[in-house]
Amino acid sequence: MALTAIHTDLASPKKCPDKGNARGMETAALLVVVWLATIAAHLFTAFGAGSGFSTDDAMRLVEVRDLLAGQSWFDLTQYRLDPPVGVVMHWSRLIDLPLALLIRAGEVVLPTAMAERVATVVTAVLRGIHEAISEYQVTYPEYQAAKAWMIEVGETGEWPLFLDVWVEHVVEEVATEHRHGSKGTIEGPYYVPGSPTIGSAGSVPMRPNESGTPLVWTGRVTSTDGTALDGATIELWHADNDGLYSQFAPGIPEWNLRGTFAIGADGRFEIHTVRPAPYQIPTDGACGQLIAAAGWHAWRPAHIHVKVSAPGHELLTAQLYFPGDEHNDDDIASAVKPELVLDPKAAADGQTVAYDFVLDPVRS
Ligand code: BEZ
Ligand code: FE
Repeated sequence: MALTAIHTDLASPKKCPDKGNARGMETAALLVVVWLATIAAHLFTAFGAGSGFSTDDAMRLVEVRDLLAGQSWFDLTQYRLDPPVGVVMHWSRLIDLPLALLIRAGEVVLPTAMAERVATVVTAVLRGIHEAISEYQVTYPEYQAAKAWMIEVGETGEWPLFLDVWVEHVVEEVATEHRHGSKGTIEGPYYVPGSPTIGSAGSVPMRPNESGTPLVWTGRVTSTDGTALDGATIELWHADNDGLYSQFAPGIPEWNLRGTFAIGADGRFEIHTVRPAPYQIPTDGACGQLIAAAGWHAWRPAHIHVKVSAPGHELLTAQLYFPGDEHNDDDIASAVKPELVLDPKAAADGQTVAYDFVLDPVRS
């Protein structure tokens, strides 16, 4: 529900006594949750001076866990310190209370470990926001403008775009840092599952007059030990020569420049397509307002998206780029990595390129 709607709901006079009562309870419950969350955020902020989760934060969490596990409210001993007698802590139980209640409230919908993780990560996010406000002395008009802008991002459905442009690249780095195989990068918002299946060699669906330089891409899908991955698939999608994606721009056939290559025992593939063009992310909405206000540009370099999968192996999501693109170094989505830049060669009719994929076995 949009914030304006919540506001109207809370502010409107009671129309029927029963509904009014229920609404009163909901409002009270909401206020309690907001109160607990605010206190918890402030406490974590206060105790986590500096960045990250401090040792004091960790000790506080241990104390709260012990309380939730049954240690008496009046027993302030921390038995994990200096065992077996333990150390009497000087910290007030009043500070444990909102944290314990927040974790218990979270447990109604989430297991304990997940509730703690939600509380911890959300607290760190809030701490980052609080620090930026203090560091840059953010004013009330700026706060109100940011609030109005966030409401607009939601109302215009641009959260997926915002997150994929400015957040996903770090999530991807963290998710894949253990890998030894091919580098990956972000998926972005334009993937559509279920594209037409092609064999291990063939052309992606395209219009008879599809413009752009023809590209023939050959390669192999192997495991990190070098064995060919029979049964691998490569799902491929990319923009056309005008920088437009089928199913997101009008007037383009449904599966244009989207296909799923099914790979055989030798792991080899041969993909026929056309080179995509660089494009700007949409600039007519809230993300565009942000880009204009910050004085940034909206360009992504030309790229081909892939999702490579094989039985028993981790899914690889990647994008392949072209050398010399002026936005390889300042991609608005921060997704370009040197390992993902292709090396195409001129051919009689267009270009050819060789690029292999190495997948990591699923970790046991
Ligand atoms: C893309 O790769 O298509 C993309 C990624 C992030 C935001 C917008 C588009
Ligand atoms: Fe893209």
